Amino acid sequence: MKILFSGIQPTGLLHLGNYFGAVRNWVDIQYDYSCYFSIVDLHAVTIQYDPKVFVGQIFELALGLYSCGLDPEKTKLFIQSEVPGHADLTWIFNTVTPLGELERMTQFKDKARQNRQNINVGLLDYPVLQAADILLYKGEVVPVGQDQVQHIEFAREIARKFNSRYGRTFPECQAKLTKTPRILGLDGESKMSKSQDNYIALLDSRDVVWEKLAPAKTDPARVRRTDPGTPEICNIFNYHKVVTPEEEQQEVAEGCRTAGIGCLDCKKKLLGNLMKVLDPIQERYQELSGKRDYVRQVLDENGAKCRKTAAGTMIEVKEKMGLNPVWKI
Ligand code: TRP
Ligand code: SF4
Repeated sequence: MKILFSGIQPTGLLHLGNYFGAVRNWVDIQYDYSCYFSIVDLHAVTIQYDPKVFVGQIFELALGLYSCGLDPEKTKLFIQSEVPGHADLTWIFNTVTPLGELERMTQFKDKARQNRQNINVGLLDYPVLQAADILLYKGEVVPVGQDQVQHIEFAREIARKFNSRYGRTFPECQAKLTKTPRILGLDGESKMSKSQDNYIALLDSRDVVWEKLAPAKTDPARVRRTDPGTPEICNIFNYHKVVTPEEEQQEVAEGCRTAGIGCLDCKKKLLGNLMKVLDPIQERYQELSGKRDYVRQVLDENGAKCRKTAAGTMIEVKEKMGLNPVWKI
């Protein structure tokens, strides 16, 4: 089986954007590859965060991912900072990375703009750490959203540069794009995210979801119930596209165009379909919350397996580079 690697930052609650943008895809393909999924805490500390709540956030994310249907028996979900090889390989890759390429990265430019008070080297080096994540396990397939494609191409470049300088070591990884379009937040403007407070969390109760959906923006042309609308420009309809069965979607679209249904009816249908996705996740979460020791143990075991694989790669890398790999597995 091909090796698959992907990562997710522990920046807070899992929300619909994470689910449809990444996690559901992970769950769908988890049996087709040998899967490494990493909670990338070392990436997350490049921006402002609160160390006091961080450990809890990391564990919650693990619970959340398993609640979404990752199979603890078949995938290796692990915490990045538990495997020293990530930082180790990052340094090595730093020495084959042209500075200019990092400065050109779109995500770096965005983050530097948003975090002017703390433009640290880690923020610039972020893509190198990401390349190390993937290549430490010789990952070939990397499921990500469109916004990460540049980073995966960069990782492939780094693999090529290392291979041509020191001999063939790393495979050339490929991004595997999610089919779901980008999920916008409830404001209908920016990407759904914790920091924008425009999200529906996977663990939000039906009541909370409704409180968020009811006032959410729709097609502004529908001022009155009798005004026809255009579903294509309505963010609520975008949500229907990911949770509502095709036939019902057609009905909703038709109802909107002819003013046959009101926006509240439309949102109620959405609520029903959304909860069909969230209910089973929330049930599994309840169940797993009672088995925290088991989850901790799985993470520990996965960390140990990953350290072993990583150590193997690092020995190979260091030998090729004429460094002395004093430590052995
Ligand atoms: N940068 C990715 C994101 O923000 C997370 C990530 C870190 C990642 N390491 C990775 C994704 C390795 C894929 C492969 O979404
Ligand atoms: Fe949007 Fe639905 Fe209202 Fe149409 S009926 S504008 S799709 S919320």
